[in-house]
Amino acid sequence: MKKKTSKIPSFYKLNPHDRLDYLKDFSNLSDVELSILKSMSGITIDQASTMIENVIGGISIPIGLATNYIINSKEFLIPMAIEESSVIAASSKSAGIARLMGGFKAKSLGNIMRSQIQLVNIPDINTATKNILEKKSDLLNIANRTTPTLHSLGGGAKDISLKKINTQRGIMLIVEISVDCKDAMGANVCNKIAESLSSILEDMTNGKSILRIVSNLATERLVEASAIFNKEILGGEEIINRILDAAEFANNDPYRAVTHNKGIMNGIIALAIATGQDTRALESAIHSYASLTGKYLPLTNWEKDSSGNLFGRIKLPVPVGIVGGISSVHPSAKICLNILGVKTASELGEIMASVGLAQNLAAIYALSSEGIQTGHMILHSRNLAISAGAGGELTDKIANIMIEEKNVNFQRAKELLNKLDNS
Ligand code: MEV
Repeated sequence: MKKKTSKIPSFYKLNPHDRLDYLKDFSNLSDVELSILKSMSGITIDQASTMIENVIGGISIPIGLATNYIINSKEFLIPMAIEESSVIAASSKSAGIARLMGGFKAKSLGNIMRSQIQLVNIPDINTATKNILEKKSDLLNIANRTTPTLHSLGGGAKDISLKKINTQRGIMLIVEISVDCKDAMGANVCNKIAESLSSILEDMTNGKSILRIVSNLATERLVEASAIFNKEILGGEEIINRILDAAEFANNDPYRAVTHNKGIMNGIIALAIATGQDTRALESAIHSYASLTGKYLPLTNWEKDSSGNLFGRIKLPVPVGIVGGISSVHPSAKICLNILGVKTASELGEIMASVGLAQNLAAIYALSSEGIQTGHMILHSRNLAISAGAGGELTDKIANIMIEEKNVNFQRAKELLNKLDNS
């Protein structure tokens, strides 16, 4: 059997149909799955109507494949849904450099989310606290009875902790339940658990429960990923020093750190949309984690290893799921999960962190050398050639001439088309 590889020379030159043929073999997709991908939307208006309220249509974002990924010794083609040009090319380029030194190593550090119950107007907070802690295991049992499937899989409510907060409206007691969400993103399960315990807690404390909801600050759902990028391939010591200078700029200036992290999110959110994740939950978890020390910091660290290669690391919360939610309902999201072949949410998180690291390297590498406009210009130039009427080999020819001439515009694309078409 042919060995599966995500390193596909000139993949970008294929037409979408030939790319789909490659993908079909790579990920064992069915003809139905291929036709859903080709349809560009994945769902009908009636299916959409069961997802949200007041449906009137849909908006389609292209899904592209980032190539070259090896993560934990496995080959991956990464589906990315994004409207911004160059992100997928940049991702594939970084992954191509990383694979020369073995690719990405990634590890999920846990699947715990916190569910919060806010209790107010408690007459005797110390007794209330004592009562709750004494009944901790009973409360956990009650919580787990509301989510029997998750519990039977080894997940569910694992621990309860309490915190008192002094507010302008008096002391509040916050009951936090640590929930192992396994392969679910976990918001629904955490909300359900919080609602199941609130009236019992009111009885135990003589207080009143107000909010009962998951916390999106997912500090117990962290993923780490790292990779080594070869010094010679990157272009030598000088460029590595420039990349380290760029990273240090982000370490010391929040205005830069936010943009640095935006580059990371280009990869993470593109994969999240493709696989049907709650992107708002990811954004809020990741950006709040970036500022947990009180200073907004970059999510990656860059250093030279003992051989002078560039070593990059990323650590961030990745609250994602592969069961429940849109990821198991939306046909395109299901297909994207099939493309990845992931069996657990942790594995999806590990891929997401690796993609974030790759995306960051691509951005700071380009910014520290040629800048990012060159990459953008290539695509822009091809688009102009196509809109001028070029096709096939002429597209690249015209695009390349315009870039060489530093004269990239529609008028020039038309002139070149007329000239080359008639020659
Ligand atoms: C653009 O979408 C992302 C970058 O601005 C990220 C960065 O500056 O590191 C290129």
